[in-house]
Amino acid sequence: MRNKSIAVIGLQWGDEGKGKIVDLLSPRSAAVVRFQGGHNAGHTLVVGGAKTILHLIPSGILREGVVNVIGNGVVVSPEALRNEIEMLESKGIPVRTRLKVSTECPLVLSCHVALDLAREQSAGEAKIGTTGRGIGPAYEDKVARRAIRIGDVFDTRSCNEKIEKLYDYHNFVLTKYFGVDPVEAHTTQEELSKFAELIQPLACDTVELLHKQSGEILFEGAQGSLLDVDFGTYPFVTSSNTIAGAAITGSGANLFEIDEVIGVVKAYTTRVGAGPFPTELNDPDGELLASRGQEFGSTTGRPRRCGWLDVKALRRTIQVNGVTKIYLMKFDVLDTFKEIKLCVDYEGDSNIQSTFSCNPTGILSVKPVYESLPGWESDTTSVRDYSELPSEAQKYVERLSELLGVEIAGVSVGASRDAMVNSHQQLIP
Ligand code: GDP
Ligand code: IMO
Ligand code: MG
Repeated sequence: MRNKSIAVIGLQWGDEGKGKIVDLLSPRSAAVVRFQGGHNAGHTLVVGGAKTILHLIPSGILREGVVNVIGNGVVVSPEALRNEIEMLESKGIPVRTRLKVSTECPLVLSCHVALDLAREQSAGEAKIGTTGRGIGPAYEDKVARRAIRIGDVFDTRSCNEKIEKLYDYHNFVLTKYFGVDPVEAHTTQEELSKFAELIQPLACDTVELLHKQSGEILFEGAQGSLLDVDFGTYPFVTSSNTIAGAAITGSGANLFEIDEVIGVVKAYTTRVGAGPFPTELNDPDGELLASRGQEFGSTTGRPRRCGWLDVKALRRTIQVNGVTKIYLMKFDVLDTFKEIKLCVDYEGDSNIQSTFSCNPTGILSVKPVYESLPGWESDTTSVRDYSELPSEAQKYVERLSELLGVEIAGVSVGASRDAMVNSHQQLIP
């Protein structure tokens, strides 16, 4: 049976509020699927005042009756998965009855973390500012056809041989090229034999599982479209495709099964780590965005760089994702601003690809061209109906929708699940 499916994708540099939207939409779904990234992600759910930060497990996990799937496109750290399962179980969530994991997921192991850290360390000023979780090296091993995958851990003998070979290979680079300590194969061998017990009841052919579902399927993006390895600000990107197209390759859904692509957009812009950021503010407005938005990374706790909304960049990510609707997040953070700016173009070179891709230092010469809108200077956090938003706030939403050419389906005015203003179309269950 053909499923109706929706992909939920971040359109900026991550942390747009994807977790909140997936949690909100998930009760009507049969399954919620992560299809790329790993525990570099940090998705925050706030329900009844209680905060849950998820890294690997899909954001439908709080909902009874929803199958949560970690698809083949995700790189899985056995340690991170175990910790997350235990964290959720300590809150009384029956994770093991709600979670399935593809046997085809490549593993993120200690050698990948060591390589990630050594590479960042040796890069000095030119470092990417990765999360240090080993994500890049794990994807490299997948493409190089030497990854250890979840399905491999059930045959202990052959798995141990694969680990031996993999560690031998990476230790050469770690010790001879980077001059750091080697990683120990036997520690990983022991870890994976314990992991085999944990994962055995959860691991399955998730392609078959998804194609057997008869309800709606929700695909949960991680990172953001400007961190996509092809379409982002390369090389200051993550190591996977983060756009909607990856929902297919990372899950085994087919081309004809994605009916809708929901873009998640923060009402301003943030970025963690290094790389181009045309609208970045290093002034009191930037500081106000950071403090009102509590802009610290959900995974590493690093302060997020902040700036105005970049419509020029959003037009590009809307295009490559085929976005059909947008949720505008953290709108309440703008409540105290007298003036709000939208970057509608860049001065001079208006070619976005050359702006983002051709500057290996990540330093931009491009200057944003801003359109200025009056702020509403009032508290929107208790508004739930669009007509109750101040007229300046409505004008801002409508002008943005016009500039982007996409309907804004909801405006989020707080971290909690219920803090949502439905705008034009009823999407919320
Ligand atoms: P994700 O990675 O895209 O899921 O987003 P994160 O969870 O990393 O970051 C979003 C942060 O903003 C989290 O702390 C959320 O609880 C919070 N948040 C989400 N929506 C809103 C909102 O509308 N207003 C405010 N003030 N905070 C929000
Ligand atoms: P969510 O899903 C924000 C960034 C890192 C770094 C770059 C590469 O919560 O939106 P990596 O460890 O992936 O090799 O780092 O990507 N990054 C994120 N930034 N949110 C995320 O996830 C991110 N995942 C990776 O900061 O700049
Ligand atoms: Mg996040």
